[in-house]
Amino acid sequence: MATTAPAAHRCSYEDYEATADWLRSQTEQLPKVAIICGSGLGGLAELLDNRAVFPYRDIPNFPQTTVEGHQGQLVFGTLEGHQCVCMQGRFHTYEGYDVYKVTYPVRVFSLLGVRTLVVTNAAGGLNNSYNVGDIMLIKDHINMPGLVGNSPLCGPNDDRFGERFPCMSDAYDRDLIALAKQTAEEQGIGAFVQQGVYCMVGGPNFESIAEGRALRTFGADAVGMSTALEVVVARHCGLRVLGLSLITNMVVTDYESKQKANHAEVLETTLMRTKDLQGLVRRILAQMTEDPEDL
Ligand SMILES: *[C@@H]1O[C@H](CO)[C@@H](O)[C@H](O)[C@H]1NC(C)=O
Repeated sequence: MATTAPAAHRCSYEDYEATADWLRSQTEQLPKVAIICGSGLGGLAELLDNRAVFPYRDIPNFPQTTVEGHQGQLVFGTLEGHQCVCMQGRFHTYEGYDVYKVTYPVRVFSLLGVRTLVVTNAAGGLNNSYNVGDIMLIKDHINMPGLVGNSPLCGPNDDRFGERFPCMSDAYDRDLIALAKQTAEEQGIGAFVQQGVYCMVGGPNFESIAEGRALRTFGADAVGMSTALEVVVARHCGLRVLGLSLITNMVVTDYESKQKANHAEVLETTLMRTKDLQGLVRRILAQMTEDPEDL
């Protein structure tokens, strides 16, 4: 079901609104929490009660997912007392989507009234003390595409979403990280929960050895092909963000190593730890207050 991504173009406020209006016409649920499910982590959406499901192909202006392990639908429902919307399948620049399309859903969620964004992804470990299967709470990111001028905030600023020069030093909510850490301890999985820096690269190829080494030198603990762009847009429109990476493979940074990264390994590890990650997100939501100001 390969689909072709459209040519690069910025989206107008009316585009986002049309999508939000359509969703409002289909469901009375007003989500406060949005969850973006990374590669193989779509099972999170199965936890929701009172589900209302919308395939991306039915949603006006929505991009289509083209990656194996990503289902391609929005799932509305409740989880631990929170009204949620889950993206079962996200968009990546390596599919051919421009940065505006990749982050399109985030602004739609904001228009629907979402206040908190939970992002998950599968990532390659760079930090030598990490193990495959670890869960990394993202404390900060390095947005490679953004650093070289490919940001979804490029172009005229729309003040209805946020300010021209948004702050990123507080991108990942410290209170939510603390809550996640405490929750992981209570769940008995604290031993494999890390905190670190996520670096977003364009992909779709995995990193060369020299690239892996360079990213580690930059201060990255894990690397992947998503998340940072969505977070930049989420912070621009004032959403509170929690990010979780599942370490599905270790990036090869040694010329003597015979290891080779592959997508099958990523999906396999995800399967192994997916229940723990889902459990963690559920427990975090159970203890999270709805209004960011209350936390
Ligand atoms: C790697 O992770 C460990 C454990 O989380 C952390 O203490 C350490 O600072 C990290 N190493 C680097 C180079 O950032």
